[in-house]
Amino acid sequence: MNPAPNPDLQTVTQVTHWSDRLFSFRVTRPRSLRFRSGEFVMIGLPGDNGKPILRAYSIASPAWDDELEFYSIKVPDGPLTARLQHVQPGDPIILRPKPVGTLVHDALTPGKRLWFLATGTGFAPFASLLREPQTWEVFDRVIMMHTCREADELDYGRALVRGLSDDPLIGALVADKLRYYPTTTRDETRYRGRITDTLASGQVFRDLGIDGPLSPERDRAMVCGSLAFNRDVAALLDGFGLTEGSNSAPGDYVIEKAFVGDGV
Ligand code: FAD
Ligand code: A2P
Repeated sequence: MNPAPNPDLQTVTQVTHWSDRLFSFRVTRPRSLRFRSGEFVMIGLPGDNGKPILRAYSIASPAWDDELEFYSIKVPDGPLTARLQHVQPGDPIILRPKPVGTLVHDALTPGKRLWFLATGTGFAPFASLLREPQTWEVFDRVIMMHTCREADELDYGRALVRGLSDDPLIGALVADKLRYYPTTTRDETRYRGRITDTLASGQVFRDLGIDGPLSPERDRAMVCGSLAFNRDVAALLDGFGLTEGSNSAPGDYVIEKAFVGDGV
């Protein structure tokens, strides 16, 4: 007798390598999967002993997309990504269809400006939310701040932001409302510096020609980076008078880990 097909298996449809450390890929979407833009799921590959190797991944595509997109690090000795980085179109991927997460519109109270604050692959949930029509319908201004050590780590985000203006659903709204602020900390690029520093010094407001500082009356924020980044940004936002929210108690800002670091 043939074994029953595995309902958690999806098929890779497209792979793009952005650098020796970063790639993105698209997979088929299970018909039954409903999620809110910004959420994450568990994905993975079969392990040698038959036990799957699963890791949390933000869904980088918006909720309306027919496929699912993911944006991934390549950890050289990482149990999952040492192998995942070699996937090709047609390969199977395990996907547990139980989306969760706090980087969702439902967890924020209404406001005028929305700040997306990301480092590294923390851009992934915002790749979803930037393509989500609700983002553009509900806020007057959206500021995407993305910081990486080196310039090529910004390429996926840059390409995605560039494509937004051609999007038939949201293109017209994006042109007026989006301010994009990519910065590097260890390479010379147009904008330099950590998100925490450019927000605290007011540099980002000056560079973008917008009013500062952040205020609880006007501003809402979503944050995704390393634990240290998330902690420092939260302290800064608290200092501006913003209050952290959650799915059960919406607030002025929400936070998600982009990954769990060594020894944490
Ligand atoms: P692991 O054993 O999981 O990690 C080894 C080490 O690599 C970690 O200790 C850490 O120091 C480092 N590392 C792991 N992930 C990253 C990363 N993303 N950026 C920088 N350093 C990292 N990863 C993604 O690439 N894209 C995502 O969209 C994504 N979403 C996540 C959402 C959540 C809520 C969480 C908790 C994690 C997310 N991760 C994401 C991290 C992901 O779950 C895995 O850790 C990553 O795929 C590496 O898996 P691994 O088995 O190869 O190595
Ligand atoms: P820096 O180069 O000054 O450390 P990482 O690869 O370590 O996760 O860092 C990704 C980006 O986030 C880097 O540009 C890094 O800047 C920045 N960063 C790391 N930790 C923090 C923090 N606690 N607050 C603000 N930015 C941070």
